[in-house]
Amino acid sequence: MRSIPVADQRSGSGMGDAAMARARSTEDVVVGDEIVRERLSARVVHWIVALTFFVCLFTGLPIWTPYLGFLAHLFGGLHVCRILHPWAGVAFAVASVFMFVQWVSQMKLTKADREFITPKGMLRYFQYRNEDADVGKYNGGQKLLFWAAALGTVGLLITGLVIWFPLEFPQWVREASYLLHDAAFSLFFAMIIGHIYLGTAAEPGTFRSMIRGTVTKSWARLHHPRWYREVTGEKAGG
Ligand code: HEM
Repeated sequence: MRSIPVADQRSGSGMGDAAMARARSTEDVVVGDEIVRERLSARVVHWIVALTFFVCLFTGLPIWTPYLGFLAHLFGGLHVCRILHPWAGVAFAVASVFMFVQWVSQMKLTKADREFITPKGMLRYFQYRNEDADVGKYNGGQKLLFWAAALGTVGLLITGLVIWFPLEFPQWVREASYLLHDAAFSLFFAMIIGHIYLGTAAEPGTFRSMIRGTVTKSWARLHHPRWYREVTGEKAGG
């Protein structure tokens, strides 16, 4: 497994505070041993998306199947879930629009990204063999997640509205919407499990970019070498 020295995952206290302060309003700047990766507004939007996603999931699952009915107790019963779920869905869609706007300019898939997300490229990645010096701020897999989440959110919103206001739509549209809503949330959920794993346990040093807003230089050099060079001004191989 790829790992970075424990010492590098910590930051010297004084400089660390300075880096966190810079991360309130800036990103892509070097502060001591750290690089600011996500400004505060980006982190807040990301966590609102994540929170509303899980409210949708945990209010939706007990409506979906009685086997998961126990989850309804978290919210005060099934009738509460039925009221809360569509509104949480609206909140999730609105927060996702903000997330889309904040990141879309950085998520264009390049030729290198397209190679990254082929089966061969992904295999190299999971074997930790991709020494691709051309990985920018986000790799191909992260960009794919971004676009899949955007598409999935549109699908969930449209089908969810049909299910919410059934009398406004013909029967075949309602039936198709139930099927698509269930398929979309299942795929979305599987994708988010992978995302959480990669953002936490699989790659030590990544989660802090969404908490503190900063990463260590060594993390950036290892996982996003081109971004590291752009931000620090170092030459390739230097
Ligand atoms: C508890 C759940 C979650 C955790 C722990 C988590 C963690 C993270 C972390 C650590 C990053 C930064 C990665 C980096 O800097 O390289 C990130 C980015 C991102 N997250 Fe999440 N996230 C969660 C939920 C979600 C959800 C529900 C969505 C979408 C619906 C989402 C969408 C994204 C996107 C699009 C990015 C930017 C691209 C990427 O880095 O993959 N996240 N997340």
